[in-house]
Order: sequence, then C-alpha cells, then structure tokens
Amino acid sequence: MSQPLYAIAGSTPTVAAAPTPLASPSLPSPARTVGEVLRDSRIEAVMEELDRDLVGLAPVKQRIRDIAALLVIDRLRAGLGLQAQAPSLHMSFTGNPGTGKTTVARRMAEILHRLGYVRKGHLVAVTRDDLVGQYIGHTAPKTREVLKKAMGGVLFIDEAYYLYRPENERDYGQEAIEILLQVMENQRDDLVVILAGYGDRMNTFFQSNPGMSSRIAHHLDFPDYAHDELMQIAQRMLAAMNYRFDPGAETAFAEYLTRRLALPHFANARSVRNALDRMRLRQASRLFAQRDRELTRDELSSVQEADVRASRVFQAADAADATADLRLPGV
Ligand SMILES: Nc1ncnc2c1ncn2[C@@H]1O[C@H](COP(=O)(O)OP(=O)(O)O)[C@@H](O)[C@H]1O
Ligand SMILES: [Mg+2]
Repeated sequence: MSQPLYAIAGSTPTVAAAPTPLASPSLPSPARTVGEVLRDSRIEAVMEELDRDLVGLAPVKQRIRDIAALLVIDRLRAGLGLQAQAPSLHMSFTGNPGTGKTTVARRMAEILHRLGYVRKGHLVAVTRDDLVGQYIGHTAPKTREVLKKAMGGVLFIDEAYYLYRPENERDYGQEAIEILLQVMENQRDDLVVILAGYGDRMNTFFQSNPGMSSRIAHHLDFPDYAHDELMQIAQRMLAAMNYRFDPGAETAFAEYLTRRLALPHFANARSVRNALDRMRLRQASRLFAQRDRELTRDELSSVQEADVRASRVFQAADAADATADLRLPGV
C-alpha cells in the first residue's frame, strides 16, 4: 500500500498528514500554459477518444470538456499559489439504462488520473449490496472495504438512491451514506465518487439527503439515444467485433429498432448490444448448417436480413404479444 488511508481506517489513529502538495506528482510542474498542461497530461488523446468512440452525448461531452478546462486552469492557478483547496469533483450521472453512464465514468476516471487528481485512475463500480450489510455491524466494514479498493480512483455507485430507504427507519443504508459523506469530504483529493441512476429517483434522493447533494459538484444528464444514434452505435459495435450488416440487414435493423423502441424495457445502447448478440447467434446457426462448404471471410462477417428478421419483435402481432415475448430469451 503506497499511502495510508487515514479517515477510513476506523481503528487506526489518525496520522497527521503532510500538507497535500498542490501540484500533482504525475505532472512535471509548474506548467505555465494551458497547452503545457494539456501536453503534460496527454489529456487531449482521451478527449478525442471519447468524442470518436461514443456516438451522440453532445451535452455530456461538453460538460466533460468544461470540467477538464476547470481542472487545467486549476493546475495553473495552483502553480502560482492561487489555490487553497482541492476542488470538489464528486458527480452525479443521471439517465436511463444503457445511456453510457458507466462507460463515461471509466473515461472520466482516466481524465482525472491524467490531470493528476487521482493517483491510480481505476473505477470501482458498486451497488447498494456491495456497501450495505444484512446485519448490525456489517455495513461499516463493507463500506470501508469498498472505499479502500476505490482509493486513488473513482467509486461509481449505481442506483445510489437505494442506499436511502426512508420507509425503514433502521435501514443500514444510512450508515453507509454517513461513511461515504465523511470520506467524500475528507479524502476528496484521492477519491472521486460518482452517483448514477434514474434522474427522478436521484432528485428525490438528493432532496432527502442534502448532505450528499451539497457534496456533488457536477450533475451530468445522459439523454436517451435517438433512432439514428442507435443505428450508429450498432454499426460501431458490429465493426468492433469484425461484423457488418448486409445492405438488406441494415434496413431490417432500422425497422427492428423502430419496433423495439415502442416496446417496454428498452435500454438504449445496451438493448442494441443484446440484439446484435442474438443476431450473431442466428448468423452462426445459419452458417453452421452449411457443413461441406468452405465459408468465405465475407460470409463469416456479414449479418444478413434473415438474421435480423427472425427476431420476435417482427413476429408479435401487437404490442401486448411483443411484451409477453420480451420476458422470453431471444427477442
Ligand atoms: N454513445 C455510445 N456510443 C457507443 N456505445 C455506447 C454508447 N453509450 C453506451 N454504449 C455501449 O452500450 C453499453 C451500455 O453502456 P453503459 O455505459 O453500461 O450504460 P449505463 O451505465 O448508462 O447503463 C456498453 O456496451 C457501451 O459501450
Ligand atoms: Mg451502468
């Protein structure tokens, strides 16, 4: 272990920490210009990757650029002794499932690392069950263990509002929240917490937990993807797996998406990924039947119209049938 974990090591007496150096050890400071900070941190590459790899998300990308700008300027200010305190970087990522929250959180961890705001830049993704115990006395050690793993990086708490259950006065979630609050305040130079989940539930959570709300400096909202964005996401996912749509398959997939968007439980890019996985399965069974022929590179990498149209989304006569089908595997 490279650094003692003062506040979270409950039984260890608090060691007087040396004054936190303002300039990051990873940056040969003091940088004098924005360009120097950008170059030293190689942050532009991450930003470009983010732009290139992720379809849409314009408001999210803009907010990330703004945050990066703030941090770069903060570095320059620190270099001139203008700054007193580490900036608060805890965030909330709100949006429906499959809108890219976890993916962006990983990139954010990398950006914060390159700018020297966290030592390691890894992401630890958890939910309530990882933090809260079932019995009295179990929650604090569980939460502390998770915090220990996340130190030097980003702690991503998915569906964070489940930590707070007002209907149960003795819910252990409250204990986890209190430990989190303390660490978010005292160790914010070494741990960034991102709370993620549905926007409306997160709002309710913040209203009931003003302490948490006041520690969150940046709120990023992830919108649902539009049909054309989902198409682009599908193309990229396929390309990344060395597949592609036949011309007929592309049109069929556009139609698939229109139908699927109208059905319940649509989970944006995640549903696209799942649909593509099933289409690859169908492609494989189709090719598997052709035992005696050498399969060409082209055949092995193309998804055909029939692979798409075999989806139950096309067979369901009406939405109710389709909904029933969605409970079965293989939609
Ligand atoms: N804008 C995007 N462009 C390309 N792929 C995306 C995009 N958003 C999400 N994905 C992909 O969709 C899947 C689900 O994304 P994820 O980040 O887990 O969503 P969330 O955490 O919001 O549920 C992942 O495989 C991710 O790579
Ligand atoms: Mg997620």
